[in-house]
Amino acid sequence: MNGQEQNQRGHWGSKIAFIFAATGSAIGLGNIWRFPMVVGKYGGAVFVFVYILAVVLIGFTVMLAEMIIGRHTQRNAIGAFEHIKPRKPWKIIGFLGLLTSICILSYYSVIAGWAAGYFVKTASGTFRGAITSQMSDQIYTNFVSNPLLALICFFVVIGITTLIISKGVQSGIERWTKILMPVLFILIIYLAIKALTLPGASEGLSFYLKPDFSKLNGTVVLFAFGQAFFSLSIGMGIMITYGSYIHKSDNLVTSAGWVSFADTLIAFLAGLIIFPTLFAIPGIAPTAGPGLVFKVFPLIFSKIPNGHFFGMLFFTLLLVAAITSTISLLEVSVAYFIDERSWSRKKAAFLLGGFAFLLGIPSALSSGGMKFFTDIDFMGKFDIIFANISLAVGALLICIFVGWIWGIKKPVEEVRSGNPRFRIRPLWVFSLKFLSPVVLIIILIFIKKIITG
Ligand code: PFF
Repeated sequence: MNGQEQNQRGHWGSKIAFIFAATGSAIGLGNIWRFPMVVGKYGGAVFVFVYILAVVLIGFTVMLAEMIIGRHTQRNAIGAFEHIKPRKPWKIIGFLGLLTSICILSYYSVIAGWAAGYFVKTASGTFRGAITSQMSDQIYTNFVSNPLLALICFFVVIGITTLIISKGVQSGIERWTKILMPVLFILIIYLAIKALTLPGASEGLSFYLKPDFSKLNGTVVLFAFGQAFFSLSIGMGIMITYGSYIHKSDNLVTSAGWVSFADTLIAFLAGLIIFPTLFAIPGIAPTAGPGLVFKVFPLIFSKIPNGHFFGMLFFTLLLVAAITSTISLLEVSVAYFIDERSWSRKKAAFLLGGFAFLLGIPSALSSGGMKFFTDIDFMGKFDIIFANISLAVGALLICIFVGWIWGIKKPVEEVRSGNPRFRIRPLWVFSLKFLSPVVLIIILIFIKKIITG
C-alpha cells in the first residue's frame, strides 16, 4: 500500500484512475459476449433501439445515483445505506447487491474461462487456415462440453480475480485497465471495419440496425433493460463501492456520462463485428445463445491477414476485460467484509472467491458435465434471475431511495461539490423520481408473464 491509502480500503490515485476502473468494470463480457447474444435472440435492431433508450433514460440516471451515494458516504454498498438512514431496512438494497454480485460472478467467470480456453486454442493453432461455420460450431461444442476443461478454465479466472483483489484496489485495478482498454478499443474498431467489408455484410447490418417494430414486445423490453443494467454494472452497488473512492472535487456527471458512453460504444461495435460476419458467412443462427460470439469470432479471424495473431490478441483482451469486471464483482462483497466485519482484505478475498467458485460449479458444468444428472440449464437460470430480475429490482430501489427517501437536496449538493452548475439536474431528478421507477415497476409487474412467455 502506498501513502495515499490510509486503510485497507484504498483510494483512487486520481480521477482518471476511477474512470478507468469504473469503465473497466462496465466493459467486459457484457458488451462483447452478452450484448450480441441478446440482440440476436430478441429481434435484432429493435432490441438495440430499446437498449439505447434504456441506457440514456434510465441507466445513466441510476449510475449517477449510485456514484452519489458512494462518494457521499465513502462506504461500501451496505454501510452506505446504513449511514444515510441508520437502523432502517434500506441496507437490504446493499445485501441484495452483494448476493447478486457473487451470483453473477459465479457464472460470469465460467464464460471468462471460455475466453481463456479460446486463447489457448487459438495459440495452439486450432483456428489456423480456413474455418467453416460448421467447424467453428463443432469446436465450440466439443470445448464447452468437456467438464474438466470448463472447470479448470473457471478455476483459473476465479483464482486470478481473487489474487488481484487480495492485493488491494490501487495496485490491483488501476494498472491493468489503463493500458489494455485502449488496445481493446483499437482492435475492435479494426475488426469492425474488416467485418463490414466482407462480401454480403449488408444483410447483417440491416438485421442489426434497421428496426422492425412489429417485433417489439415485453420480452424485448425486459431483456434490453436487463442487458443495460448488466452492461453498465449498475443495480447492485458496484458504482457505490467504486464511487466511495472518488474525490469530492470530481465531476460525477461527466464520470457517469463517460462510463455509460464508452460502455455503449464498445457493445455497439461488437455488434458491428458479429452480425455482418454472421450473415456474410452463413451457418450460425443469430439465436445461437451463449456460443454465438465464440463461434463467430474465429470466422472473422480466418478471413483476415494474420488472423491467428489477431485471434490471440482478441481473446487475451477479452479475458482482461472480463477480469476487470470480475474484480469489481468481487470487490463489492470484499469492501463490505473489510469495513463492517473488520476482516482483512486477504481473508475476505479468499473466502468470497472460494464461495463464488463453489457456487459456479453447476454453471461450469451446465453445458456438458451436468447433463448426466440433470437437464437444468443453471447458467441460463442464474442469468435470468440475477442479471434481469435482481438488477431491475436493485435499480428500482436505488431510484426510490435517492429520489424519495434520502430527499433530493443532499444528492444534488453532492453532485455540486464537483460540478457547481449541474445543468442536467431537472432531467436527472425527473428520471430518478418518476420515469425510472414507473418504467421499472411496469417491467417487474409483467416479469412473470414475460418469462413464461
Ligand atoms: N458490466 C460487466 C460487463 O458488461 O461485462 C459485467 C458486470 C460487472 C455486471 C459488474 C455487473 C457488475 F456488477
